[in-house]
Amino acid sequence: MKFLFSILRLFSPEIAHSISLNGLKIVHNLGLINFFTSKNTHLDSYTLNNLTFTNRLGIAAGLDKNGDFIDSLGALGFGFIEVGTVTPLAQDGNPKPRIFRVFKENAIINRLGFNNKGVDYLVKKLESRKYKGVVGVNIGANKESKGDKRITDYVECFKKVYVLSDYITINISSPNTPDLRDLHSKENIYNLLKSLDSQRQSFNTKKPVFLKISPDESPETLQIILDAVREFNISGLILSNTTIDKSLLQDKSFLNEAGGLSGEPLFNKSTQLVQSIKQLDPSIPIIGVGGVIDKAGYVKKLDAGADLVQIYTGFILKGPDIISELLD
Ligand SMILES: Cc1cc2nc3c(=O)[nH]c(=O)nc-3n(C[C@H](O)[C@H](O)[C@H](O)COP(=O)(O)O)c2cc1C
Repeated sequence: MKFLFSILRLFSPEIAHSISLNGLKIVHNLGLINFFTSKNTHLDSYTLNNLTFTNRLGIAAGLDKNGDFIDSLGALGFGFIEVGTVTPLAQDGNPKPRIFRVFKENAIINRLGFNNKGVDYLVKKLESRKYKGVVGVNIGANKESKGDKRITDYVECFKKVYVLSDYITINISSPNTPDLRDLHSKENIYNLLKSLDSQRQSFNTKKPVFLKISPDESPETLQIILDAVREFNISGLILSNTTIDKSLLQDKSFLNEAGGLSGEPLFNKSTQLVQSIKQLDPSIPIIGVGGVIDKAGYVKKLDAGADLVQIYTGFILKGPDIISELLD
């Protein structure tokens, strides 16, 4: 497996991504997935917000934006899968190149910009999934949507995926959609969460709704977010998205590269955010994500107060082996 991943490093990041996920899907369809997973079934169930997770490790949003790989990722042994970010309309995202791997520092910079096939495509994938585990859907706004149209974008996605998902994540924290992070401000977050809360009241069943925030916010903004979370019945926080602070990288040649930084350099910043939020409100459920690339990081993230942990960059760098490394 390590050998295969060394070869994939020779390809451009997006080609490597496509080869590995489509390869995984073929292997899964052929019934050969067990060759890529450990014999251990990673059963260590955990209940949060009335959902039962088979274990506490999930795949973070962005890897399977369109829900094309839910069954194959599920078969690898993740305790839950988050798909998206999805927007109402399909969009191409930013021009390429838009993903940069910094292998020496176990890091990635990306400025994809919510490239996805649109919510109606994802709905079909959710309907046809066979995976029985927890699937969350991460929703966002189209790049061209401005002002109140952004809120309608979130509401549209929310309505369409609500009954088909186990939880929904409101993503206000991608640095790659212009002004999206403005949604952390008081007026914007209240307007957005109020609209989604009233939409949620119209459904008979109550699904957990998480808010995914940026690691680059001030203590004042965090307090505003926490107040809004309590006021509009948000079930928990996902901490965090990528950081725009490229000074966390030792390689200074990336200092001016636009995009969000993930992987090992993000670990301390995102883990401190988990700790701070836990101190401010110990009752709030947290999904911790950012820089987990080994067992020590996984344990530290849980110790900091995360109920569940997600990975993205660690999975890209190490492949499916990382699941056993973290959970066995
Ligand atoms: C290439 C790439 C694409 C991403 N796309 C999304 C996305 O669409 N939505 C989202 O909420 N987060 C997205 N993320 C952020 C991850 O979900 C995660 O929050 C972040 O990468 C930190 O975790 P990590 O250090 O384990 O990668 C993306 C990250 C990467 C590297």
